[in-house]
Amino acid sequence: MSVWIDVAEESSLQVGHCRTVEVRGLRLALARLPVGFYAVADACPHRGGALGAGCLEGTKLHCPLHGWGFDVQTGACDERPEKPVRTYLTRVEDGRVWVQCDGSINSI
Ligand code: FES
Repeated sequence: MSVWIDVAEESSLQVGHCRTVEVRGLRLALARLPVGFYAVADACPHRGGALGAGCLEGTKLHCPLHGWGFDVQTGACDERPEKPVRTYLTRVEDGRVWVQCDGSINSI
């Protein structure tokens, strides 16, 4: 079962930027592209770098520790295709950004 959780105010993130959000024990890197919001797990599959502190170039989010790049729309990693990052569905409603998570976190 999945649940939608409210993670941020829409206006809190400018287009072309990303940041870490932590809600109910879940840490996500939230990125805002011209076409909308994208969320990936905040822990880099390499050595756990906080992707939300990385640099966003187009759809590519670069890990702040060693620079691996992840496509925030697909989770794909150019440097190590076998190590994608988990992606989460997002939606915007009434000025808030919501992320779909599995039901194992503390739900609403
Ligand atoms: S921890 Fe992310 S590239 Fe090394």
